[in-house]
Parts: sequence; structure tokens; C-alpha cells
Amino acid sequence: MNESIGAELVYSKVDEIIDRYKEEKTPLMAILEDVSQVYGYLPKDILERISHKTGIPSSKIYGVATFYSFFETKPVGKYVIRICKNTPCHVLGATDVLETVKKELGIKEGETTKDGLFTVEVTSCLGVCGVAPAMMINDVTYGNLNAERIREIFALYR
Ligand code: FES
Repeated sequence: MNESIGAELVYSKVDEIIDRYKEEKTPLMAILEDVSQVYGYLPKDILERISHKTGIPSSKIYGVATFYSFFETKPVGKYVIRICKNTPCHVLGATDVLETVKKELGIKEGETTKDGLFTVEVTSCLGVCGVAPAMMINDVTYGNLNAERIREIFALYR
């Protein structure tokens, strides 16, 4: 497939998503969520396309895309690990959790493993402070973390 045909296909999918919400008064979040589902992240040229097609200023679109931690603006691994660093998790060992995860995967915060399997990020409260320290892998939340439990969890994904 040549590049221009590829780009047309990508944009036709984006345009289809935008059309889906054309009757909505505030369609941006829904569009970004659907585009994110399709591509796994929000590429810059796609954000520009959304701006061009909807008339929403690109500065506003970038603002929303970068504000919410569940939106990615760069390619990520198959599994995105989000480690909570807010106070309840911090007090109960979030720093050790992050260090263990980084050591186990051989990457730093914000990086993706070479095999494209895992990306590590830190985030704010996941809403499960009662089982702090906690992390999410994609949509699944894990609490009461320690080094042993983290290794057991990773074994499920490898
Ligand atoms: S502070 Fe970590 S889950 Fe709430």
C-alpha cells in the first residue's frame, strides 16, 4: 500500500468517527475516546484532522488530549501500566512499586519495552486507596502491591 492511500484510509476512519458525533453539542471527548480505541493513541496528524473537520481549535484538542492521563499522544505498549503516586499510595510504598516495575521491565518511567509489550507511567489516584499501593494495567486495577505480587501479576501478561 502506498503512503497516500494509507493516509486516506486512516483519515476516512477518523472522519467516520467524527460523523458519528456530529449531532452532539460537545463531541470532543467521545471523538478522542473512539480514535484512541482504534489507534491505541492520539497521533498529532489525527488531532489536526479532528480540528480541521470539527472546527475545534487544535490548541483546545491538544489541551484535552494531554490533560487526561488515559489519553496517549505517543505510541504505547500493548499493556500500559499506570502506577498511582498520590499520598495514600505514596505513604504505603508507591516508590518501591515503581522501582520494582522499572527493574522488572528494564525501562524508565514513560518508556516502552523493546518488545512493545509494556509502557510504564505514573498517574494520580485510581480510586482504590483502600488497597494502596495500587496500579492499573490497561483496564484492570491491582492493589496491595509488593515486589512478589508485582512479579506474579507480570507473569500473567508475558
Ligand atoms: S491514592 Fe492511590 S489509589 Fe488513591
